[in-house]
Amino acid sequence: MWLSIIVSLALIYILTWVYKRHRALNVLQSLGYSVPPVNFFCGNLLELVKCSNGGLDTQTKWMTDFAQGFGTKGRILGWYRGPSPVIYSTNPEFLKEVFIKQSDTFIDRPMLDRSDNIPHLIMLKGHHWKRVRSILTPTFSSAKMKKMASIMVDAIDILSQVVTKHAVNKTEANFYNLYQGLTLDVIGQCGLAMKVNCQLDENDELLVMVKKTLKQQFDVTAIIASFFPELEGILSWMYRGGRKKTNDVIISWCDDILKKRRKMGHPPGEKPIDSLQLMMDAAAGDPKKLSDEEITANAFVFILAGYETTATSLAFTTYLIAAHPEVQEKLIAEIDALIPEGGKSQLELEKLTETILDMPYLNQVFNESLRMYPPIPLHFGRWADTDKVICGKVVPKGTAVMIPTWYIHHDPDLWPDPWKFDPERFSPESRNSIKEMSFVPFGEGPRKCIGSRFANLEAKLALVLLLRKFTFKLGPNITHPIKFRNKGISLGPQNDEILLVPELRNK
Ligand code: HEM
Repeated sequence: MWLSIIVSLALIYILTWVYKRHRALNVLQSLGYSVPPVNFFCGNLLELVKCSNGGLDTQTKWMTDFAQGFGTKGRILGWYRGPSPVIYSTNPEFLKEVFIKQSDTFIDRPMLDRSDNIPHLIMLKGHHWKRVRSILTPTFSSAKMKKMASIMVDAIDILSQVVTKHAVNKTEANFYNLYQGLTLDVIGQCGLAMKVNCQLDENDELLVMVKKTLKQQFDVTAIIASFFPELEGILSWMYRGGRKKTNDVIISWCDDILKKRRKMGHPPGEKPIDSLQLMMDAAAGDPKKLSDEEITANAFVFILAGYETTATSLAFTTYLIAAHPEVQEKLIAEIDALIPEGGKSQLELEKLTETILDMPYLNQVFNESLRMYPPIPLHFGRWADTDKVICGKVVPKGTAVMIPTWYIHHDPDLWPDPWKFDPERFSPESRNSIKEMSFVPFGEGPRKCIGSRFANLEAKLALVLLLRKFTFKLGPNITHPIKFRNKGISLGPQNDEILLVPELRNK
């Protein structure tokens, strides 16, 4: 008798599950959205995951073959991440409503609710996110960035020494790796005042651990949990040893440094301006401000979010410059005209920072590189916390509205001849014809990247200081045009290689 009760209960559970799944996978179609063919167990996610370059071609195929026209401007498509509805759109009015004008409704990222989620900006929700973001925003003000410039310049000096060796020996160097060392040295110091040595020691503990952690952020259990959200609890418990273990190592470093600072004060000399110290100052004496857990979680996320993205943007930009000697020449001319051989006093560095952030052609080149090779290429989104009608489209509660960055940045209607590297697209004369919401490397709205100023400064400083000394050519072993893929959430060159030959400039 017990057996038949158990079998009946199991049958009821399965039938209910099948019914619910069937309903969930028809929500968008019933509202008139066009959806690519759906798999009953995986929704559309498997096609994205299986794609050989990490989803980039799949996104383009979906938007080209299945998306409907949406008004006179743009397209719209529905798809399912497991049973959860997702909307991709390129319509600027629709995107502006979601990401900017109605950002109070669309406030959260569509992240999985994992039991080991950490309370940092990327994961936080609702009012908790708003509070932490408003406390952390001043950490990235232009005044603070200018102070961090000296750390960046010191780290770029080390890079310059490494590049000089390659120039003297006429050997090709893997700039993807070199820039990863640079950005981790910078973020280690700007984030935690931690003297790390990632550029000269490829076995540096932080470098090894951060690489490992990034690999594990998008583990297979996260994908299975997207297919079957009901299994999330057990899956993240089973996987605690992997992702959680490496996360914990970095978090406990941050925590150790925080405790030492609290106990002994900051190191002798001028008060440090790393973001850990800035967060501690922001929390001082006010229990309503940041807790220690929030401080270490955000120190952790600055390291993860600030390292690979900036390195990727630098590596692709240097590749593009090497592949386009006419652009390289024009950029060098701008640098030589505007940037004096400078000293390193705080005042000189502040002046350098101001000039660099204002250099028109450098800005055009960097933006065009971010358009062609956006470091977070696939998508980012917001979750509808209630049913909404946006530009005449019903967006049901629980839907993730996402910007398909890769497609938008290469849409020939928005960017004619999209695979042509043409910094003139961002020239002052053409800038007005760039369509709204068509250039989104750092996201959009109140939740866009908090580190964009930091990344811009670091990347532009590195480009300027290197181009003052070197020119770049494509290495004999590079594949040109470069092959790329999306790994985890970040774009990268295939085989993790961007091979270039630096040459010392004759001045
Ligand atoms: C070229 C370099 C970078 C690129 C392309 C980039 C891109 C992005 C994108 C696309 C988002 C999502 C925005 C959205 O949902 O609207 C984001 C969020 C974020 N980024 Fe960056 N990022 C870069 C560098 C950095 C750096 C240097 C830091 C920190 C030091 C950083 C920290 C963050 C954080 C904390 C968030 C979450 C913000 C929030 O939810 O409030 N990023 N970034």
